Amino acid sequence: DRVAVVMGGPSKEREVSLNTGNAILNALKEKGYDAVAIDLDPEHIVDQLKASGARVVFNAVHGLYGEDGRLQGILEMLGIPYTGSGVLASALAMDKVYTKHLFQNNHVPTARCIFLDKKRDQDPKARILEEIGIPCVVKPATQGSSIGVVIVKDEKQLDDALQEAFQYGDHVLCEAFFTGKEVAAGVMMGEDGRAVPMPLVLIEPHVNFYDFHNKYTKGATTYTCPAPFDAETTRRLQKIAVAAYEALGCSGVARTDLMLADNGDCIALEVNTIPGMTATSLIPKAAAAMGISFPDLCEKILKTAH
Ligand code: DAL
Ligand code: MG
Repeated sequence: DRVAVVMGGPSKEREVSLNTGNAILNALKEKGYDAVAIDLDPEHIVDQLKASGARVVFNAVHGLYGEDGRLQGILEMLGIPYTGSGVLASALAMDKVYTKHLFQNNHVPTARCIFLDKKRDQDPKARILEEIGIPCVVKPATQGSSIGVVIVKDEKQLDDALQEAFQYGDHVLCEAFFTGKEVAAGVMMGEDGRAVPMPLVLIEPHVNFYDFHNKYTKGATTYTCPAPFDAETTRRLQKIAVAAYEALGCSGVARTDLMLADNGDCIALEVNTIPGMTATSLIPKAAAAMGISFPDLCEKILKTAH
């Protein structure tokens, strides 16, 4: 059966998605699949899918249209099975405000936060200073790859941070800042449909935090997988990763981003339902630590299409 690897699209993560998609396309071809690429064009995606003759879709579109439930809705209507999470889980995970609500309601530990609405909040700065304080992290609600994320360490940076984050939409999140270690945990769906955590990846950017540059520049970040934590810490982080995935109702392979704070707290930041699969990405590293090659990983993900 022909597989269409859908990638690209108009999001800010377009280039990342093309890298992810091409890596997957090559891997599937290497495994002998009849795989073709589709560069998502929102107005023509239905025709693109029909013309491709694909019987199944490997979704490699990060962000807008591909990771937020919209493409999933179209595929449901066309009756084409696809990899990854369904419509609702995708939409929820793409929006950090809803993600936080679900974490809070499902005992998934997460940083204290407030939600800011451009239209309703007259003075977001005052609210942040009163309800969260400095340092804090300001994030657009619906971007990926840390686009628009600013760690505010000084009150003077707050105006610029808010302006940056509101560029991407009307909803912004402000979280209490934790110092600690950044950790990622892949979550896979086992054959019995249960969520299984993958080995943890410890992420140590050489400067700043794991921002866009440090995510995609070779040599900018040191990765250690499995992360060198004691068994108890590893188990705690993996449990939170699975709880976050389940709180959002994810399926297939997703990646929960976490922090191990210096005070010992483990917190979930978010879940990525279309995790990067580029040369510097985390899920392929976690799979390699399990003895799963990149082509085998792609085939496993393809088999979870539903
Ligand atoms: N949003 C990027 C691609 C990731 O989560 O890996
Ligand atoms: Mg993300």
